[in-house]
Amino acid sequence: MDIVYHEQSRCFHLYNEHISYIITVLRNGQLGQLYCGARIRDREDFTHLLELAPRAMSSCTYEGDRFFSLEHIKLELPAYGNGDYKAGAVELLQQNGSRITEFSYESHSISHGKPRLHGLPATYAEADDEALTLTVTLRDALTGMRAELNYTVFRDYAAIARSVRYVNGGNDTVTLTRAMSLCLDLPDCNYQWLQFSGRWARERQLISRELTQGVISIGSLRGHSSHQHNPFVIIKRPTADEDKGEVMGISLVYSGNFLMQAEVDAHMTLRLMAGIHPENFAWQLEPGKAFQTPEAVLVYSDSGLGGMSRTFHQLYGKRLARGMWRDKPRPILINNWEGTYFNFTEDKLLDIARRAKDCGIELFVLDDGWFGRRWDDRGGLGDWTANPTRLPNGVTGLADKITELGMNFGLWFEPEAVSRDSALFEAHPEWLIATPGRNISHGRNEYLLDFSRPEVVDNIHDQMAAVLGSSKVSYVKWDMNRSISECYSSALPPERQGEVFHRYILGVYDLYERLTAEFPHILFESCASGGGRFDPGMLYYAPQAWASDNTDAVERLRIQYGTSFCYPLSSIGAHVSAVPNHQMYRITTLSTRANVACFGTFGYELDLSKLSGEELDEIKVQIEFMKRYRELLQFGRLYRLESPFEGNTAAWMVVSADKRQAIVAFYRILNQYNDCFTRLHLRGLDPDMLYRETQSGAVHYGDELMRAGFITSDSTAGEIFFGMMPSSDFASRLYILQADKD
Ligand code: GLA
Repeated sequence: MDIVYHEQSRCFHLYNEHISYIITVLRNGQLGQLYCGARIRDREDFTHLLELAPRAMSSCTYEGDRFFSLEHIKLELPAYGNGDYKAGAVELLQQNGSRITEFSYESHSISHGKPRLHGLPATYAEADDEALTLTVTLRDALTGMRAELNYTVFRDYAAIARSVRYVNGGNDTVTLTRAMSLCLDLPDCNYQWLQFSGRWARERQLISRELTQGVISIGSLRGHSSHQHNPFVIIKRPTADEDKGEVMGISLVYSGNFLMQAEVDAHMTLRLMAGIHPENFAWQLEPGKAFQTPEAVLVYSDSGLGGMSRTFHQLYGKRLARGMWRDKPRPILINNWEGTYFNFTEDKLLDIARRAKDCGIELFVLDDGWFGRRWDDRGGLGDWTANPTRLPNGVTGLADKITELGMNFGLWFEPEAVSRDSALFEAHPEWLIATPGRNISHGRNEYLLDFSRPEVVDNIHDQMAAVLGSSKVSYVKWDMNRSISECYSSALPPERQGEVFHRYILGVYDLYERLTAEFPHILFESCASGGGRFDPGMLYYAPQAWASDNTDAVERLRIQYGTSFCYPLSSIGAHVSAVPNHQMYRITTLSTRANVACFGTFGYELDLSKLSGEELDEIKVQIEFMKRYRELLQFGRLYRLESPFEGNTAAWMVVSADKRQAIVAFYRILNQYNDCFTRLHLRGLDPDMLYRETQSGAVHYGDELMRAGFITSDSTAGEIFFGMMPSSDFASRLYILQADKD
């Protein structure tokens, strides 16, 4: 790993074993992009990669020089309007109404490690030799505005983290109306664009789009990263697949409104951008004030999508997630939501907990409905004290009883929300996000608190800290169940209303930061009506997130498969729920439900009193299995083998770091009569190692399993293996591979 500055050519080369990122100071002082991709040899000068050519009818910077045209030069911080006609990465509204800027090189510095971003989540380095950071400061002479472009290269990951800090060094107040975190100009557009989109209960579905002249984008204008689009995109060469080929993933460490965009210009070059969505964004910067953009992370892989995902999993699992739970296998929980919804008493909860304890479950989570005037979803939000009818002994009393059973206790909050029927609303109607004189759109009968106001964040903090500090709570589920509408803060002046969306998220981050620091033993799980805020920003505070309100095992195959492209398995909240499933009304076997949920944080979300003794016995076995293998299932290397987006089957596997252990999962959605023989070409094993499949006892070398394949045919192909039952719809099987002794 190094960052080299070549003074003669004014080139910066950031590299590690896997990746090179090369930029240069251009003749006009702007920062140019020369190369981003697989590691290449360093040399004194890379400026020939600029491809300067006297193209006809182009805007040129210098009179009489047709070679230097910003229409064609690849830029790191482009601004619209000075000869570059693509969308820019920065836009500054000045006092005279102009938005033209000329950011040019002023200085640079290279430092060990990685500085934290003030008030924002970001990847980090634990030791100085893990990362190097380059800061290039550009200055717009006319306004005095400085842009500090920060680039971090990591020793161990094929990744570059990028963010920009703007500092108003001039005498006038200016307004940032566009401040993207990342801009990457690439010399060609021969890529496919993959995005992870959907809707509530159908999050992160893999969608592939072709790049062609023009703009394609995804984003959120809802105030949270959203169910609709995830702040993550991939570009891959058309021939790249799971195992081979060039792939780049771009992920934004942010939980609010975002934009990810690809623009292909007339000469088929590609500009990628990621950052806060410029729509509704306008940030005033008085002289001396600074604005920090969120961080974007770029991962390069020449070993396909799988290689890219494993880099994200390691980087985000180890150097984005924080706290004592980061590296720990997660507790097996039972959550009462789908078991009881709002219909519970303390006795009912204790009954579920006792049965759960008997099955080996470690954590009891009390979901929505325990507080204030919360009888259904129309009241109570904002009042975080126990409802005495529901919990006569308060949270403390219930938590004590649960812990006496030998289980840990977890609690649901929706800190950002308020109900009209609540003491908080009665005391502070002005704390809502609402535009004066306008209707407030409804969402799940609730409103959002104006988290851009510090006093609101303080109030919720104090209420939550009082509960968490006085009761034995070891887990918090932090929910958020509606999007922002009629966005306006009555605490901010008119010219600052364009800051509310971002200030809201900063308020959320502030509350997370305080609570995670004050209660370091608590495991936080983020949630937003399921997966409406499943993003890297949340992962920084909460190492796991409820992936979706859809708990159907078959639907979950696609949701969890899509989620796995960027996010580690240890972050994917997944539960076994009742059948018929409450969202899909589908009946799947208990075993298939567990076989899907175990590739995640694993828990149960049903009423155990409604299960038969046989089912409870099966659950006990599932829990024993999970306890034995959760380290591997949550922290092993993931290899996706068959995509549920492509056919009737899905398969994936996890392999331990030392390659001595692997678990392979195979799912067939609809049963096939007289089916073909099936086999999986396994991945990530040691070719020379002999593996024993623990159920059948059969042994195979790694090379055979990866090349010839692992046979998964069953009765559908006329074969019956080791007394296996005839198959049915929604079948699944797990195989454990263990290195044979010698
Ligand atoms: C959201 C969550 C659910 C549950 C309910 C409670 O929908 O995603 O898991 O907590 O809220 O109201």
